[in-house]
Amino acid sequence: MFTADEIQSFVNQGIQNLIKANEANKLQAPVEYALSAGGKRVRPVLCLLVYNMFMDTMPNSVLHPALGLEVYHNFTLVHDDVMDNADMRRNRPAVHKKWDVNTAVLAGDSMNVLAYKYISRCDPEILPLVLESFNKAADQVCEGQQMDMIYEKQAFITEDDYIEMISHKTGALLACSFELGGLCAGVAPQTAQNLYQAGMSLGIAFQIRDDYLDVYGDTNVLGKPTGTDIENNKKTWLHTCAMRHATGDNLVQLTGLLADKTIPRRTAQFIDLYNKLGVKEEAEQRIAYYTDKTMEFLKDPQIPQAKSTVLIEFIKGLTDRKR
Ligand code: IPE
Ligand code: IPE
Ligand code: MG
Ligand code: MG
Ligand code: MG
Repeated sequence: MFTADEIQSFVNQGIQNLIKANEANKLQAPVEYALSAGGKRVRPVLCLLVYNMFMDTMPNSVLHPALGLEVYHNFTLVHDDVMDNADMRRNRPAVHKKWDVNTAVLAGDSMNVLAYKYISRCDPEILPLVLESFNKAADQVCEGQQMDMIYEKQAFITEDDYIEMISHKTGALLACSFELGGLCAGVAPQTAQNLYQAGMSLGIAFQIRDDYLDVYGDTNVLGKPTGTDIENNKKTWLHTCAMRHATGDNLVQLTGLLADKTIPRRTAQFIDLYNKLGVKEEAEQRIAYYTDKTMEFLKDPQIPQAKSTVLIEFIKGLTDRKR
């Protein structure tokens, strides 16, 4: 069995090799830039940590599909920064700022294809299952991103709407990462299903934490500016929670702030309201709730519990991540 640090270095090295192997073409520079250092590589690491519970070796037939997940994720970030009008990513200018929007669109498209090339390098016998899982996730990410854009223009969404959106935009790819780790190890369908659900719950916790860090994080540690969700009128977990609790003057202030982006000290006023309404603590509770759900799904009878500790410790480390 490998340690989490060993798996992290397989992934880091794998990304370097993938960049080197990438053909020279007119999009090579922005693609390499988007893929190069700075990301946490959470999705491939989780995929390999899952595989590692069942298998003692780490062949390319699982490493390459895991890298494909990271390439796909990086593609979605390139397009996400265009959609969110975000200038910085991983402490550097976003691709559409360093180059331009058209280059970001095409580099993203090219990375989508590159992701499929690596995903397809699994054991040929399981290729249909792997593609079915990945296609579903890839489709859901697009739909979730579209919900995210639609909700920017909407004054209010319910917590259920919010969970549906993030299950698509973020949960789906983490669910697929867990499932692929299991599929590559040849687990039974019921176990693959539990792994999927474990990844889905973790993805929900992960996105709530991402929303939280946009308000309570440190820009330099995060590598992306804070406060952008408020500026973009994103329906984050913090916002939906504030709307649920606000009454009287607080509700008037909250809806007023949402309706007018020119109000002075707007972001600071939003954050004051979040603090007054106990949003921060409730977000922490929700992250803990969805992380606990992840752990429940990992109690699957086919998962050797003694070998699940490396994965479980890694998951625990994500609950209070700073980046
Ligand atoms: C950011 O993803 C976007 C979300 C889906 C929350 P990560 O937090 O995994 O970003 P990197 O890859 O580590 O930069
Ligand atoms: C992005 O969510 C989810 C994706 C599928 C890319 P965010 O828009 O919150 O991600 P960041 O905060 O820009 O990394
Ligand atoms: Mg976004
Ligand atoms: Mg964004
Ligand atoms: Mg975010």
